[in-house]
Amino acid sequence: MWRSCIVVLAVVLGTQPVRAQEARIESGRTFVQTNCSMCHAVGRSGESPFAEAPPFRVLQRRYPLEYLAEALAEGITTGHPSMPEFQLDAAQISDVLAYLQSIQE
Ligand code: HEC
Repeated sequence: MWRSCIVVLAVVLGTQPVRAQEARIESGRTFVQTNCSMCHAVGRSGESPFAEAPPFRVLQRRYPLEYLAEALAEGITTGHPSMPEFQLDAAQISDVLAYLQSIQE
């Protein structure tokens, strides 16, 4: 009886963070596919449709991804005049970052 309680508890505690993280990655993927994929390669492979736009999987080579959180919150305009301005809320930012982190080379 106690034993099964402990097992259930361990399963709940053990999988919760992973599932939350997967949910974030999933909605981050949806977000960038909808808003960014017409210019950027947003997956683990492939070239950007807009040659000047860096593929998302190499962003970390340029700077730590955390820097992006700030840029996304303030409206990411720097350096890309041809890119529409995006302003994301905190939840969307954590989704997008979780996704970006998951695809970095
Ligand atoms: C209309 C095309 C277009 C769309 C849509 C677009 N981008 Fe970009 N993005 C660009 C271009 C072009 C560059 C390269 C600009 C440069 O290097 O000066 C770029 C660069 C970037 C960079 C690198 C900035 C830097 O300073 O190195 C990030 C990060 C980025 N985009 C994020 C996003 C995100 C997140 C989205 C979706 C929410 C998005 N972009 C949608 C065209 C676009």
